[in-house]
Amino acid sequence: MLVRLSTLFFSLFGLLLAGVLGTPTPEPKPEAQSADLAGLSIGDIINALGIGLVKNITATITLDSLTTNLISINFDVSNPLPIELTLDRVSSSAGINGTEFARFNHTFNPPVVVPILGQANSGQIDNVLLTQGALASLDIIPLGVLDLLNTDVDVRAGTIFGFGGIPIPIDGLKQSNVPVTYNLDITG
Ligand SMILES: *[C@@H]1O[C@H](CO)[C@@H](O)[C@H](O)[C@H]1NC(C)=O
Ligand SMILES: *[C@@H]1O[C@H](CO)[C@@H](O)[C@H](O)[C@H]1NC(C)=O
Ligand SMILES: *[C@@H]1O[C@H](CO)[C@@H](O)[C@H](O)[C@H]1NC(C)=O
Repeated sequence: MLVRLSTLFFSLFGLLLAGVLGTPTPEPKPEAQSADLAGLSIGDIINALGIGLVKNITATITLDSLTTNLISINFDVSNPLPIELTLDRVSSSAGINGTEFARFNHTFNPPVVVPILGQANSGQIDNVLLTQGALASLDIIPLGVLDLLNTDVDVRAGTIFGFGGIPIPIDGLKQSNVPVTYNLDITG
């Protein structure tokens, strides 16, 4: 009986394995890559995103922020390209007039899918460090804008509903005068 069960187990396992191995793996061929990217080169994609990936930022300040120097943010990104983009990770330094006020490093889980010519929200990103301290940062709230002094983002281009795509690490994006909305959350 034991033998028969294990035989059954192995046959089932074998079937499963055959099913998995039998699934055609989309081997990225050069032709397939350019087709996925709608004829765009990696350089085209980097340039297009360099013009302004981030539409606006919403920053939430809590009473704790005054002691922890941490705030949370979320931001809207827009995709100017006729291919889907998926964001896996971002790290950014933001400030005013070349002075850094905030810095964060975030891995998106799940990744953020930005539809073709569409927009998406980052979801909440905690642990954004106010590098000048919370009190000094109050001065920049009335400006209602931030400059992204240096943003690195891991993008996958030509994804399908967030899957696959061609990984493009983009370093050193800069963007000026990104609108920022500040919320004070006194329940936090
Ligand atoms: C940010 O931009 C998106 C896309 O344009 C828009 O839908 C959203 O209302 C904006 N949010 C704020 C707070 O301005
Ligand atoms: C930024 O620099 C400009 C030009 O130097 C100056 O007019 C402005 O007051 C500065 N803004 C801040 C918030 O320091
Ligand atoms: C972001 O976090 C990753 C992983 O923890 C680390 O390797 C990287 O140096 C960090 N980048 C910045 C700008 O802090």
